[in-house]
Amino acid sequence: MSNSGLFISIEGIDGAGKSTHLQTLAQALRDAGHSVCLTREPGGTPLAEAVRALVLHQPMDALTEALLVFAARRDHVQHCIAPALARGEVVLSDRFADASFAYQGGGRGVDWGCLEQLERWVQADAAAPGQELLQPALTLWFDVPPELAAQRLAGARLPDRFEAQPVDFFRAVRAAYARRAQADPARWVRIDARQDLAAVGQAALAALRTRGWLA
Ligand code: TYD
Repeated sequence: MSNSGLFISIEGIDGAGKSTHLQTLAQALRDAGHSVCLTREPGGTPLAEAVRALVLHQPMDALTEALLVFAARRDHVQHCIAPALARGEVVLSDRFADASFAYQGGGRGVDWGCLEQLERWVQADAAAPGQELLQPALTLWFDVPPELAAQRLAGARLPDRFEAQPVDFFRAVRAAYARRAQADPARWVRIDARQDLAAVGQAALAALRTRGWLA
């Protein structure tokens, strides 16, 4: 598939504060003249949003959860991400496949090789020429210690199935993000999200400037 747009994903454990910065990044990209498709996972299409409601609220085993998030991703790639990239837009996605390795792989213990197989099935045919899989050109990882993330989440709202997990779950999720980042360092920028909001926002914008996507 022709793929002239730009794909950026945002990752981090629950409570890292990434959602706050998503709007800032989208606005900065729009101000720079880009057409921005702001989307999220699980979700981004009516079908994938329906899957999101199940995954966030219905009890299920770990492999079922992994199959569902990748099924949602398939629909999202086919009906939202790939068409937007083909139109030349900047796709800014609140999470993508790295979240499945982090949460289902690290957090729930689903076999890493199984997730890689699902990733190939779901993301291969939308890959840009010369690439094996559809992947973001840049992944911004808002990284915080799980203890701090838990403090930030405390009392914020009724927790979903992930937010309700203990700190050890998020330690494993964070370690799996680190593993994905180490495997593909050119794609990843780790942002120290312990800093105050303004500093984190500036670090995120700087990552886009470094790549020439913002003035
Ligand atoms: P999140 O992105 O934190 O949205 P919000 O800010 O609205 O809570 O919520 C999505 C949750 O889904 C998050 O806890 C991580 C989880 N998730 C997975 O477990 N696997 C996945 O592949 C994806 C994309 C998300």
